[in-house]
Amino acid sequence: MDKDLYLAAGCFWGAEHFFKQIDGVLFTEVGFANGHTDNPTYEQVYTDTTGFAETVHLRFDPLRVSLNFLLQMYFKAIDPTSLNQQGEDRGTRYRTGIYYTDPDDLPFIRQVMDREAERYSKPLQVEVEPLINFFRAEDYHQDYLVTNPNGYCHLPVTLFAEARAARDLRTLQKAEQYRLALKQMRSLLDGEKDSVARMANTAALLHDAFHFWWTGFYRVVQDELVLGPFQGPVACMHIAFGKGVCGSAWKERRTLMVPDVEQFPGHIACSSASRSEIVVPVKQEGNVVAVLDIDSQHLAYFDHADRHFLEEVAALLP
Ligand code: SME
Repeated sequence: MDKDLYLAAGCFWGAEHFFKQIDGVLFTEVGFANGHTDNPTYEQVYTDTTGFAETVHLRFDPLRVSLNFLLQMYFKAIDPTSLNQQGEDRGTRYRTGIYYTDPDDLPFIRQVMDREAERYSKPLQVEVEPLINFFRAEDYHQDYLVTNPNGYCHLPVTLFAEARAARDLRTLQKAEQYRLALKQMRSLLDGEKDSVARMANTAALLHDAFHFWWTGFYRVVQDELVLGPFQGPVACMHIAFGKGVCGSAWKERRTLMVPDVEQFPGHIACSSASRSEIVVPVKQEGNVVAVLDIDSQHLAYFDHADRHFLEEVAALLP
């Protein structure tokens, strides 16, 4: 359930010290990412001919801190318009980059990048790439500013205080709300055998607790999805296998998070007010029997924490 993220933010000594203090970050290590040799040493990377970027590998708990929040913190620690230079450190090894290992993260990263780009008149120089390789740096680089409190750092100390104080309140509150909703749901559904009744009250409970735009179910009926119990405005009644977000989640048998519905090929717009969406398959004996579909009027409203908890919801159904 924990997630990994690789961030190049200039000299990795200060960058690691910054990220490791953020609540929800469970583990950090520094190393070299996306270069074209094997097992590079610091000295080799320092020649600036290996293609590697000094990078911090973070592991984080998405139920405490979102990818979005971490990326917002990342942008506080870099000059995103500066090419191959952060502070006084110059060279391609000091470039900025966001390297992901889960393709589902890409739309979230793009969304943050687009929002940040609006804040600058110059283009952003932060590269967004899949992680190709990562080699842990020598031990003396790990936690460098802990072992060398007066060591060189291009970041201001005020930034470290900011990292220590940072709390992703939205994620923390959301997680609490889901835990409560799940508890209510378990007692509400206890003893009820009718699957439509179970889905109906699940939709009502979630909709009421979170004030989503649309919360409901589509049931698998022969070779298509048919509208089931829901809360919200009227919606399309039939969706074919593999069509739209719902039909795709059915076909792929996995949760789909869509931060911007306009970017999803074949998205079915039941309402033009819906801007982001999450669809979670409901399975019975391994077969998808329904999907839980939730829409929001806000962009990028659903993330890994929603996915985690809504999959718990779906596991209590049909
Ligand atoms: N947008 C969905 C269709 C259902 S409505 O959101 C309620 C889709 O693309 O499958």
